[in-house]
Amino acid sequence: MKIAIMGKIHPDGLDVFNKNNIENYEINNFDETDLAVKLSDVDGIVIRTASLNSKVLSKCKNLKIVSRHGVGYDNVDSNYLSNNRIALAITGTSNAVSVAEHVMTMFLYLTKKINLSNNLVKSGNFKKKSELPNFFELYQKNVLIIGFGRIGQELAKRCLGFDMNVHVYDPFVSHELIVGKGCSHINKKEGLEIADYISIHMPLNDETKNFISFKEFDLTKKNLILVNTARGGIINEEALLDALKKNKINSAGLDVFENEPPIENHPFFKEDNILLTPHNAALTLECRKRMSVEACSNVLNFLTDSVDLNKKNIINLNFLN
Ligand SMILES: NC(=O)c1ccc[n+]([C@@H]2O[C@H](COP(=O)([O-])OP(=O)(O)OC[C@H]3O[C@@H](n4cnc5c(N)ncnc54)[C@H](O)[C@@H]3O)[C@@H](O)[C@H]2O)c1
Repeated sequence: MKIAIMGKIHPDGLDVFNKNNIENYEINNFDETDLAVKLSDVDGIVIRTASLNSKVLSKCKNLKIVSRHGVGYDNVDSNYLSNNRIALAITGTSNAVSVAEHVMTMFLYLTKKINLSNNLVKSGNFKKKSELPNFFELYQKNVLIIGFGRIGQELAKRCLGFDMNVHVYDPFVSHELIVGKGCSHINKKEGLEIADYISIHMPLNDETKNFISFKEFDLTKKNLILVNTARGGIINEEALLDALKKNKINSAGLDVFENEPPIENHPFFKEDNILLTPHNAALTLECRKRMSVEACSNVLNFLTDSVDLNKKNIINLNFLN
């Protein structure tokens, strides 16, 4: 068996292969011609954020599984994989806690403007604290969680811990599940109208692209704090920039961008009321270890037909039979 690892992963994952004497090697040059050669006889691929298109995949004659180090798989041609009965796995149990904590960090940072207090003290201006702008509590504020899967549900727990009113918009999960988790079920329009906080946790697709755009910002409250750690493009960047510039909302936190990395001098960089992180919500050390082990275990279990195979992690299982 031969496994290629596209990008650097935590060494704990490599141990999964090494302990089982499975040949594995890292690839860091993602040039298509090179990839076609290096992947031509691999049985499995572990992939971080590089792209894997049908042109390269068609050269992988032994390939049986592609395992994403993460949960989104928009960088891989999933249709090609399904049509060719190649499994596609994700690290379904690894990411949710870190991403939910990242959202809470953004909520708290933007609510408390803690950087301004820090700057004040360090610049010797302790006594000028009354000159700081108002800052607030999360307590009893309305949060709208859009997408109630793994991350949305972890975020809900944390928001409930802060005594927030948690509202959920997700047409694909049951009312019972939402209410059973202590949240209320709401439609998109009402959710946008009452939210003090919004956090997005759904995939990017034709339906969700520009889910929040100019007309949505006509509905939202002026004090809204809007966070997106899901995928760029779900919030229209032009509309968000307009809302920030015109103070239609309080502020935004983004971990993801329409194009990554964002262009040099992206207009967001000049705005004070936006907090930006480099798509690293899931990259805590704990989470990187878990993702690395889970991504490699998905490959090992699948190729060795292990009874431990976590079938939930194989997202195209129905195409494989
Ligand atoms: N920033 C990061 O580092 C990072 C890390 C992990 C995941 N993500 C992204 O976070 C998102 C959520 O991940 P997850 O693991 O919770 O996924 P998940 O599949 O567990 O949950 C997604 C939820 O979105 C819902 N959904 C789908 N279409 C919807 C729509 N039109 N309206 C409302 N809800 C809709 C689904 O019903 C599902 O409950 C994904 O986009 C993923 O790529 C980002």
